[in-house]
Amino acid sequence: MTQRAPALLSFTNAGLTRGTTLVFDGLTLHLNERRIGLIGDNGAGKSSLFRLACGLDAPQTGSVTVQGEEAFRINTRKPNCVGMMFQNPDDQIIFPTVEEELALGLTATGTPRRDAIGQARSFLDTRGLQDWADRSVNSLSQGQRQHVCWLAILLSSPSLVLLDEPFASLDLPSQALLHEDMARVPQPIIVSTHLLEHLHDFDRVVWLDKGRVRADGRPAAVCAAYRADVRQRIADRTATVS
Ligand SMILES: Nc1ncnc2c1ncn2[C@@H]1O[C@H](COP(=O)(O)OP(=O)(O)O)[C@@H](O)[C@H]1O
Ligand SMILES: [Mg+2]
Repeated sequence: MTQRAPALLSFTNAGLTRGTTLVFDGLTLHLNERRIGLIGDNGAGKSSLFRLACGLDAPQTGSVTVQGEEAFRINTRKPNCVGMMFQNPDDQIIFPTVEEELALGLTATGTPRRDAIGQARSFLDTRGLQDWADRSVNSLSQGQRQHVCWLAILLSSPSLVLLDEPFASLDLPSQALLHEDMARVPQPIIVSTHLLEHLHDFDRVVWLDKGRVRADGRPAAVCAAYRADVRQRIADRTATVS
C-alpha cells in the first residue's frame, strides 16, 4: 500500500488563545498548493495562523504540522524550513546593518559568517542595491525595511515561505517587483493580504472570519464572496446609521 505524503502545512483541530482572546477553536485546514492566499478582516486570525505555522506559537489543543512534523519551533530542528516575513519589519529585523541581517539566514544553516556576508553583498549587487550593504537598517523607510525582509527570504530560500501582509507598506513599483519576485520563487508561498488583485493567479485562497474558514477555493470565487460580504456589511451599517 502506498502511503500518502503528509500535507505541506496542516492544522488539525488546532485551538489557540492569545491573551484572553480565543483566536482558533478547533481549526482544521490542510494546505498543499504552491500559491495560497489568506484573506479576511483585521483580527480574523491571519497573523496568528502564520505564528502557528512558523512555530513561534504552539496550539493549546490539536496539532499544527509542516510536512508531517510538529511546527512548534521547527526551525530549531530543521533550520530554514519555514521562512516568515512579518507584517511589521521591526518585529523581524535583528541586526543593525542590511548585510548582517541578510547573512543571518545563511549562517543559520551553517555558512561561515564571512562567506554569508560575502553572499549577502553579491546578492545586493545583483539587485542594484549595493549601497544598502553597510547601511544602518534604521536609516531605511518602513517599506525599504520590509524589502530587506523579503530579500532575506529570497537569499535564504526556506522550504515554505509565509508572507504576512507583505504589500502593506510598499509603493506601487515595489508591489509590482514583489509580485514578480514571488512568481519566480520555486517554493510554496502563503500570503496574507488585503490587496486581492495580487491573488488572482494563485492556486487557492482561504477566507478567515473570526478564526474560522468562511470560504476556501479558487481565488475568483473566494475573493468575490469576501467582497460581497464586505459590501453587504457596509450597506447594513449605512442603513442602521441613517
Ligand atoms: N499579542 C496578542 N495578545 C492578545 N491577543 C492578540 C494578540 N495578537 C493578536 N491578538 C488577537 O487575536 C485575534 C487575531 O489577531 P491576528 O491574528 O493578529 O489577526 P489578523 O492578522 O487577521 O489581523 C484578534 O482578536 C487580536 O486582537
Ligand atoms: Mg495580521
